Amino acid sequence: MKSSGFAGFAGGLTPTTGVALRMKRYARPILVTGGAGFIGSNFVLHWISQNHGQVINLDLLTYAGNLCNLAPIEGNPDHVFVQGDICNRRLVDQLLAEHRPSAVVHFAAESHVDRSILGPEAFLRTNIQGTFHLLEATRAYLATLEVDARAEFRFLHVSTDEVYGTLGPNDPSFHENTPFAPNSPYAASKAASDHLVRAWVHTYKLPALITNCSNNYGPLQFPEKLLPLMINNAISGKPLPVYGDGRQVRDWLFVVDHCRAIETVLEKGKIGETYNVGGGNQQANIDVVHMVCDLLDELVPDSPHKLHRQLIRFVEDRPGHDRRYAIDAHKLETELGWRPQETFATGLRKTVQWYLNNRAWMEEVASGAYQNWVNANYGQRGAAGRAPAASKGAR
Ligand code: NAD
Ligand code: TYD
Repeated sequence: MKSSGFAGFAGGLTPTTGVALRMKRYARPILVTGGAGFIGSNFVLHWISQNHGQVINLDLLTYAGNLCNLAPIEGNPDHVFVQGDICNRRLVDQLLAEHRPSAVVHFAAESHVDRSILGPEAFLRTNIQGTFHLLEATRAYLATLEVDARAEFRFLHVSTDEVYGTLGPNDPSFHENTPFAPNSPYAASKAASDHLVRAWVHTYKLPALITNCSNNYGPLQFPEKLLPLMINNAISGKPLPVYGDGRQVRDWLFVVDHCRAIETVLEKGKIGETYNVGGGNQQANIDVVHMVCDLLDELVPDSPHKLHRQLIRFVEDRPGHDRRYAIDAHKLETELGWRPQETFATGLRKTVQWYLNNRAWMEEVASGAYQNWVNANYGQRGAAGRAPAASKGAR
């Protein structure tokens, strides 16, 4: 186990800028897993900016985890970083016994669909076995708590809309009661973990809740995912690889809105319930890439790569590629009062600007092993691809 005290890179996210402090400071810490990844680190920064209390952050620091993400809270006593594996039951037991948290917020996962296609085993280990170990450790820990502390405790499992499978163009959005139909190894492993959480609630009365969220975007996202990959490639004048026809639809949510949803569910959600989280922003991939290109044309007017749309290349599709995701977040909105604060236009502008302002962060995370991933994933897709007829020359 390695604790806290990293020397970090100042990523540019200031956790306390101008945000009105919320009232609730939790008397006991919370245990966050995967808090050095994209959503987890945004959540930890948000939690601390809201002065909610101490976070014990357990993260293995796989390729996707990065302490640079947490640089703005370096040295803050409200953040205790522990490098370790959620599959290490002894370590998890020890952390729960030592810190006696009032909640576990479980982000840690292998999270990338393309990687799950090239190597599914790690997904079964972390997403299924890891969740199992956390649930069992939590169950044992709960048995040691006094009645009041046990009544207060929550286990929040952070999951994805991909467990529901894929939608046709006119199908209704995913609802909490939509049957699971996962299509990728990633989605199947997350669906399995959701089922475990549900079973632990039902059988052992574990006080757990589940959130199933749509695609997130925003600062600190590893550049294997669509938006940071496109922004990073476009800034550097590299091809923008769009899978298949680019007409697949995702329902995009700004990451801080997701963090606020988790905060809300933790505070007000009903034990045993699932809450869908989504931004009501359905966009085809090619349209998203066009928006990124147009924003870069505007924000970097002297770029040698203008017009950025000329960099688009259609490449071989992802096997089993889900056509459309869309989330019905009505339950979270009406029962718990959550609403996204960003539209796609405002969130995307902030996101592109953040990556422009944080080139050093991108260079840091996209060095080393990242290049091997780019070669493995895009080499076999025909990286040169096909340029879209409409984007040659003018828009
Ligand atoms: P990410 O890949 O950016 O981060 C995952 C983090 O988990 C990393 O810091 C990694 O080091 C850590 N980790 C991996 N294996 C671990 C292990 N065995 N023990 C401890 N830590 C480990 O992922 P993300 O995009 O931030 O997603 C976080 C969670 O949210 C995941 O559970 C994912 O399924 C879910 N989710 C993601 C999205 C999205 O759009 N990214 C949408 C909905 C739900
Ligand atoms: P991704 O960010 O991997 O998220 P997910 O597969 O979990 O939805 O991909 C978002 C969409 O973008 C998905 O339809 C696949 C597509 N995509 C590309 O077209 N090109 C790429 O290089 C990547 C990484 C994704």
